[in-house]
Amino acid sequence: MAVETPASSDQVSITFQPMGVTVDVRRGETLFEAAADVGVDVDTICGGNGVCGKCKVRVGEPHLVPAKPIDHVHLAAVEVARGYRLSCQIKAADDLVVDVPAGGRRSIKILHHGLQRDVPLRPNALKIHLPYLPPRQRDGVADWDAVKDTLPGFFRRVEVPLPWLRQLPAAIRNHGGMTLTVVGRRRVTRIELGDTTLPSCGIAIDIGSTSVVAYLVDLDTGTELAVASDLNTQAIYGDDVIGRLSKAQFDPVGLKRLHDLIIAQLNDVVGEVLSLSNLARSAVTDVTVVGNMAMHHFLLQLDSTYLGLSPFAPVTRDAVTVTAAELALDLEPDTPVYVLPNIAGFVGSDTVGLMLASGMADSDEIQMAVDVGTNGEVVLGSAGRLVACSAPAGPAFEGARIKHGMRATTGAIDHVTMNRDVSFS
Ligand code: FES
Repeated sequence: MAVETPASSDQVSITFQPMGVTVDVRRGETLFEAAADVGVDVDTICGGNGVCGKCKVRVGEPHLVPAKPIDHVHLAAVEVARGYRLSCQIKAADDLVVDVPAGGRRSIKILHHGLQRDVPLRPNALKIHLPYLPPRQRDGVADWDAVKDTLPGFFRRVEVPLPWLRQLPAAIRNHGGMTLTVVGRRRVTRIELGDTTLPSCGIAIDIGSTSVVAYLVDLDTGTELAVASDLNTQAIYGDDVIGRLSKAQFDPVGLKRLHDLIIAQLNDVVGEVLSLSNLARSAVTDVTVVGNMAMHHFLLQLDSTYLGLSPFAPVTRDAVTVTAAELALDLEPDTPVYVLPNIAGFVGSDTVGLMLASGMADSDEIQMAVDVGTNGEVVLGSAGRLVACSAPAGPAFEGARIKHGMRATTGAIDHVTMNRDVSFS
């Protein structure tokens, strides 16, 4: 085995241990990129730019891969002597077996539970069961007029997209009646045979730079049915948004790659909450998403080029509603996905969610809310006026760009008790 030597074929085989994962990669691809290709968890903060020093792996005998000056900058002398190298600096030139140290990103703890306050339930999506209407009672009235006549007054102007209108004749003649799903009191998004009003669930998704969390909520009771979370897989292109914005800006397929990664991950967490609660995807009538401006653009595959350049102009700050089909989410195709509005380039819709969830947007008293994430936001104010700002919190709380800093993963101190002695776990 060797690296960076002339070779006869365009492909080389890399095996990652202890996972036992082997991947064939293009000669010249870095070990860091090869790991990302197959989802092997190599630690990183800088996304492979040789800045953070977190991506060390052990590559066989030390003499097989000569250490570079940058290895000596980031790694201890004893590590270099034992064969540890920065994986983002090694271009594979021959078949290789690589040991990946424990304690990578996958062992990070994600906090997704907290205090809750009571909120009035006003779901945007409503399921309405209409009993069977015998044709005699309808007396030649158009099918849709007959349906509207049975709906509460504020639904009378609801619209039915053509695909559902086509299904209406059969549904209205079903002896078990039918169930309409109406979103925003304006639009029918589903017609089902029989009474399917229960369960009616919503999924709230928080796309953070570091983690992605999905909450499945019963829209009739407000009960949280299941939670699923994972680390944002886009982090292979950098822990902070700057690295990912660079990827989207300079790599012709970068934006598509970032978009595909987050969609695949959303499908994973959505599938997990449904599986945990033993519900079918048809139970979901509504989805809401928050995230910072970069996550928002990657999700919607909006050109993020100017988000990374002064004066950091986004494509839009407005709320966006799309369908699950438009985002290729594995839900019923017409399920609405509501992406909350953003505030400014570096104060995203997660902060809007914070304002709404905390109640400070309706408060008569001045309150302060703090969201500690890779980017930290602070909001101050009351119902009359709210002011928000942000600053990078990753260096302080996640060890980003700090030589001896680290995240909440294996080896980190997560509790300290101070009595007569100091103890920690
Ligand atoms: Fe290699 Fe940061 S130094 S990923």
